[in-house]
Amino acid sequence: MPKEGLKKVLITGASGLLGANIIKNLPENWQTVGVVNKHKINPPNERASIIEYNLLEEDVSRLFKECGPFNAVIHTAALTNVDQCEEDKDLAYKLNVKLTEEIVFNCAVNNIFLLHISTDHIFDGKDGNYDEDSEPAPINYYAETKLLAEEKVKIGGAKYAIIRTNFFGYNVQNKNDLAGWIVKSLRGKMPVRLFKDVFFSPILVDYLIDFIVEIVEEKKEGLFNIAAGDSCSKYDFGMKLAEALDLDKSLISSISVEESGLKVKRPKNMTLDTAKAKKIFKNKIPLIDESIEKYKELDKIYNQN
Ligand SMILES: NC(=O)c1ccc[n+]([C@@H]2O[C@H](COP(=O)([O-])OP(=O)(O)OC[C@H]3O[C@@H](n4cnc5c(N)ncnc54)[C@H](OP(=O)(O)O)[C@@H]3O)[C@@H](O)[C@H]2O)c1
Repeated sequence: MPKEGLKKVLITGASGLLGANIIKNLPENWQTVGVVNKHKINPPNERASIIEYNLLEEDVSRLFKECGPFNAVIHTAALTNVDQCEEDKDLAYKLNVKLTEEIVFNCAVNNIFLLHISTDHIFDGKDGNYDEDSEPAPINYYAETKLLAEEKVKIGGAKYAIIRTNFFGYNVQNKNDLAGWIVKSLRGKMPVRLFKDVFFSPILVDYLIDFIVEIVEEKKEGLFNIAAGDSCSKYDFGMKLAEALDLDKSLISSISVEESGLKVKRPKNMTLDTAKAKKIFKNKIPLIDESIEKYKELDKIYNQN
């Protein structure tokens, strides 16, 4: 049972970029169970417990029985590596689609609110500025599985919210996201090549979590784009980051997708329209510069090496 007055929340993917940051920034009234698989983490506070559980090999219902009852589930676990999804479609399907289906089923039968994390990647990237009514058109297998997962959530019978997003932040795993890779490379005086023709609306994970908390606290149901209020190319993002962190911008050069020789197709314009979120949420959708400014503050704490 949750401790008196506390909301008990299950977080899958607790060792991932998003999950670990949620656990670290828990609201005062939340007690969480974070599920990790290959990467072990220590509970960052006394209201968090961490459980090692391979969600593909062990029984998901048993997890709900033994660690619940939960007030909410935040499902962030996924196979997020786009190339790996293409190479191992079976694993991608099991982790991104089948597991989501099982999580939804368990939420439905136990009457638990589910917050599922989806992606801007489900669009073909021809137009950009996609709103919640835009037609998805996946162009790679990662995107296909993430879209199928959304469908499982929608028809699974649980009360749910789905967030489509694109985020950056500090990672507990020794694995860099785009921002971490740019900063580490520039600090190591390594050149960085970034796409001038790929556009996105990245939000700092800490700001995204404010919306996650609002959704769970108020059980806000539906599909929401939670991303930056503006957009830029990956090249401009790198330049902004280098400027803010006082890193050597001359190490950054621009490249086009055609020049890059990427094996797996990726959408070129993944920008999201956040008008709905701006109307519905108390939290404010940040601009990219605001996220970068906060990243700079966090960098002073986490990354001075
Ligand atoms: N990163 C982005 O910008 C972005 C953008 C849009 C949407 N998303 C979505 O946001 C969510 C979180 O992304 P992220 O970047 O935080 O992911 P991530 O860092 O790649 O972490 C993935 C998590 O899934 C867990 N996992 C994988 N296989 C598992 C298994 N068999 N059993 C239990 N757990 C397993 C991993 O655990 P171990 O590491 O311990 O094995 C890890 O905690 C995903 O659904 C992703 O599709 C991400």
